[in-house]
Amino acid sequence: MTEYSGEDFLRLDTVSLDELQGLLDATAEMKQTPFRDTLSQRSLGMIFQKRSTRTRVSFEVGMTQLDGHAVFLSQDDIQLGRGETVGDTARSLSGYVDGLMARVYSYDDVEALAEHAGVPVVNGLSDFNHPCQALADTYTLLESFDVLEGLNFTWLGDGNNVCHSLLHALPRFGVDVTVATPPEHMPDSDVVERSRKLADEDGGGGIELTEDAEAAVYDADAVYTDTWVSMGEDGKSEEDFHPYQANTDLLSHAADSHVFMHCLPAHRGKEVTDDVVDGGHSVVWRQAENRLHAQKALLEQLLA
Ligand code: CP
Ligand code: NVA
Repeated sequence: MTEYSGEDFLRLDTVSLDELQGLLDATAEMKQTPFRDTLSQRSLGMIFQKRSTRTRVSFEVGMTQLDGHAVFLSQDDIQLGRGETVGDTARSLSGYVDGLMARVYSYDDVEALAEHAGVPVVNGLSDFNHPCQALADTYTLLESFDVLEGLNFTWLGDGNNVCHSLLHALPRFGVDVTVATPPEHMPDSDVVERSRKLADEDGGGGIELTEDAEAAVYDADAVYTDTWVSMGEDGKSEEDFHPYQANTDLLSHAADSHVFMHCLPAHRGKEVTDDVVDGGHSVVWRQAENRLHAQKALLEQLLA
């Protein structure tokens, strides 16, 4: 099994396909054997500039289950929140902890943390991407279908941070990704271009962009949506997004065996209806749980 060789975990497009596969294999093993002492005496500092339920708890509990310890550092409570620089924060914390996980507004901040920290840094979501989410989601898809190659995966709504990380990963495993968004909310063209290039080098999955939600969902094996307004985008209009709502009507065009995915938190009645998120096709709770297993696999490879 190929172990992750990077110093930090900031984005999936710099992780090789073999390393991604290694992390998926390690996630499966971690799910089977969750309690270990591989991170005994190790501490993880967790910096949060934004709120979190799943990321915070899965990293903290994950460290405990590996016999390590996590320290929650809300921006409101540490000097970063009153002007201490990211660099000085990184240098100071590196003297105490063995790794840092950070949820930041700007991707530049997590890069700056990694540049100045003497310990590995994990990106726990930024405006640009959410690599831990996409790693766990790739695992959830594998668990659901056994084989990733040839799956039709449809993203609905906003071409946002989670969408970017999924684009960096899924087509490389041979998954055909269709992204249906309003025209002004497409994923970044740089991400699409880079993901197409990586897919050509690796598993050969395609990436299609469309405004047509119904056509995008047709025969999909997996349909994924996320909030129309991400954290840090307050005031953004939701008006254009309504045709992209994941509801029973729209999802009736997907394959009979499709799974419905959402990174959560869900905004019920907006990007997804109750009957879909609570329905038989939904795997959202398993996605949330798999964050724990995937991140523990990652932490073990980065910190042990
Ligand atoms: N999906 C996700 O990252 O959830 P939280 O915002 O609750 O951490
Ligand atoms: N796109 C969402 C994901 C939350 C986990 C956000 O950034 O708010």
